[in-house]
Amino acid sequence: MNNPWKEIPLSDYEGHMTLPEVGQSSMLADEFTNLLKTYRSNSVAVIGCAGGNGFDEAFQSGVERIVGIDINHDYLVETKSRYEGKFSELDVYCANVEDELPDISPVDMIYAALIFEYVDVKKTLSSLKKICKKGGVLAVLLQLPKEGLSNVSPSPFTSLGQLTSIMRLVPPSEIRELAKDIGFSLESEKTITLKSQKEFSLQIYSLPD
Ligand SMILES: C[S@@+](CC[C@H](N)C(=O)[O-])C[C@H]1O[C@@H](n2cnc3c(N)ncnc32)[C@H](O)[C@@H]1O
Repeated sequence: MNNPWKEIPLSDYEGHMTLPEVGQSSMLADEFTNLLKTYRSNSVAVIGCAGGNGFDEAFQSGVERIVGIDINHDYLVETKSRYEGKFSELDVYCANVEDELPDISPVDMIYAALIFEYVDVKKTLSSLKKICKKGGVLAVLLQLPKEGLSNVSPSPFTSLGQLTSIMRLVPPSEIRELAKDIGFSLESEKTITLKSQKEFSLQIYSLPD
């Protein structure tokens, strides 16, 4: 089966995320900004970066080297054109994060927001470990199930409906256990609730030296 993410136009994804009733874009940006303030990082990797989500925040926080990974080639072409020249180093990789990633020099911080819902958790954590510096940070942001709310918010952007066939809300405990097995240490964990009542979990891990 082809991955539906390869079929969804970037304009549909971005239009959906900025709908006031979805309201997720500002939360994702705010959380990333907080992380960048707390963990001063020169190099950052954004996993499932779409059209460069998080890149503005990274630029404003003085990140020098940024790596974007996504399975959709068109998203990365757009990311490059939006951010070329802003960072000392900008590298984008069209890759499935479940698979062995290309040779990427490890980074200080990995931001993996709303990606584990679409991938094999164990394989992805193993891939991410290889691109995380020793002493670096992995931030995982997960959508939590909410009774009465559909996982993919109703939207005029109908192409997003394809995602229901592959989306799985991952219990935070599953990431916690697998991350520990793989060698990450949990530093902190919190729940975020949006006006729409949708809930998210933010877990921060470090990779011991
Ligand atoms: C829900 S979006 C999240 C985008 C962004 N991180 C954000 O928070 O808005 C998921 C992103 O992950 C990408 N993606 C989905 N499965 C992937 C995979 N197996 N490997 C790499 N990228 C993937 C999609 O193309 C999409 O850009």
